[in-house]
Amino acid sequence: MDRDTLSWYESHAEHYIARTDSFEFFDGLEQDLLAFTHLLRVGAVVADLGSGAGRDARRIAEAGHSVIAVDASLALLRRCVAAAGTARPLLGVNADLLALPFVADSIDGIWACGSLLHLRNEEIPVVLRQCFASLRPGAPIGVSMKEGAGSERRSDGRYFTYTSALEMAGWLETAGFEGVSVSGPSRNEWLLAVAMKPGGN
Ligand SMILES: C[S@@+](CC[C@H](N)C(=O)[O-])C[C@H]1O[C@@H](n2cnc3c(N)ncnc32)[C@H](O)[C@@H]1O
Repeated sequence: MDRDTLSWYESHAEHYIARTDSFEFFDGLEQDLLAFTHLLRVGAVVADLGSGAGRDARRIAEAGHSVIAVDASLALLRRCVAAAGTARPLLGVNADLLALPFVADSIDGIWACGSLLHLRNEEIPVVLRQCFASLRPGAPIGVSMKEGAGSERRSDGRYFTYTSALEMAGWLETAGFEGVSVSGPSRNEWLLAVAMKPGGN
């Protein structure tokens, strides 16, 4: 993971948690997430890639699924797992999205909200190919990124890559996904792409 981006999340974890841990701050996001969960099979194993404070991971677990929260920031991952408590426990995995630690065809759904945007443009298709390999046939993926052009390192040190609906759809189709649909921009220029791995029942 980009060192300066990780360093920002590690050192601003409390601030970031306070800013992002509730759906109240993100108009329509919970509905988008629930539309994604409706594509999942019952009792699915779902990976939340770049889970941050754990808002979405907890909601997916509340919908009856098992969640593997993956994040390079140990500070955020610890918080994500702790906030889930014992009633609906999450499995936290401290890993880089560039090296997903999953066996092929083993995951029933992947949710990546605002995390792939911290990768270099050329790294995004690489990660999406890993996502494709990790998912079982018939499983959905949901990816949200900010609409825009190019990449930048913001003044806070974090690296951002912006994209378009067309580019997101192209990445997913090239990775092998089908049924790609991209909605938005909503919530201050956020795009949401949803697609399925072909096959399954
Ligand atoms: C903008 S936050 C989004 C957090 C959460 N998904 C949300 O929507 O609130 C990006 C998250 O992705 C994580 N992240 C960014 N790049 C990563 C990478 N290469 N590997 C693992 N985690 C990464 C960060 O640590 C951070 O938690």
